[in-house]
Amino acid sequence: MTTHASTLAGKVALVTGGARGIGRGIALALAQAGADVAVADVDRLPPGATQYGAAATSGLADARRTADEVEALGRRALVVAADVTRKADCERMVAETEAALGGLDVLVCNAGVVSVAPVARLDEATWDLAFDVNAKGVFLACQAALPALHRRGGGAVINIASVAGKNGQPGMAHYCASKFAVVGFTNAFAKEVARSNIRVNAICPGILRTQMWEYLAETLRRGGESREESWKRYVEALIPTGRAQTPEDVGQLAVYLATAPNVTGQAINVDGGMELH
Ligand SMILES: NC(=O)c1ccc[n+]([C@@H]2O[C@H](COP(=O)([O-])OP(=O)(O)OC[C@H]3O[C@@H](n4cnc5c(N)ncnc54)[C@H](O)[C@@H]3O)[C@@H](O)[C@H]2O)c1
Repeated sequence: MTTHASTLAGKVALVTGGARGIGRGIALALAQAGADVAVADVDRLPPGATQYGAAATSGLADARRTADEVEALGRRALVVAADVTRKADCERMVAETEAALGGLDVLVCNAGVVSVAPVARLDEATWDLAFDVNAKGVFLACQAALPALHRRGGGAVINIASVAGKNGQPGMAHYCASKFAVVGFTNAFAKEVARSNIRVNAICPGILRTQMWEYLAETLRRGGESREESWKRYVEALIPTGRAQTPEDVGQLAVYLATAPNVTGQAINVDGGMELH
């Protein structure tokens, strides 16, 4: 699918967790389609968000780089420091976006964390973090954005769930439950706001080699296997096409969902054929 720069011309998007990975891919796709983009992220993830391990990655430095790339496409960009688990941060993130970019038309709730632990050894803090970021973070960002979307006479919300929001994966019950929650929230919220010209959809990505899967490939290694071999084993075993998805793949669907006037309440897979429903 090619996107035309005019598709989202004059529109403003806000992407949570937009610094890197899938969020960055979505931010750039929306900018290519003509939108100005606010990139929201946290500087450091809490220790329980194991996909970064001890890596000294600054979310805000990465967010600045993504914003620079948006500007290089000829759009306006904004970096917002916001932790989606905090209601006040979500409200400020929307207020700063409106103040700097003139409004809000497209909210993308992408921020997410992952970890692996079987239920028998899953501690409460790990469960709580998955739900705080992946599920409550979506609710708080959507609630905060609602008045701004109403002020524009409508808009689009795109929540990033996962194929793990449709099918359980052993060792990831907490992550799967949080993503099933995103799918349910998306469908219910879509029905609530449908008459206000606000459409709410979810994207369910399959497997992408972002920092999240660097962690998973390492953690799920079998004895003697390298991280690379572990990654390839999962891609080949789980994805019918045999190819991992990319942030650009997810960005294409985000542009479609930001513009499709008659699509709402859906949870659409970008997964190379892993799931039907
Ligand atoms: N990588 C995959 O294979 C895959 C598959 C399906 C779904 N997903 C989902 O896609 C989304 C993006 O994942 P990714 O693979 O790009 O991972 P990633 O770790 O590369 O990026 C996640 C981003 O979210 C940010 N973030 C985390 N907690 C936050 C918080 N509390 N507030 C604000 N920002 C926060 C991080 O700083 C980071 O920039 C997540 O919701 C993830 O669950 C990923």
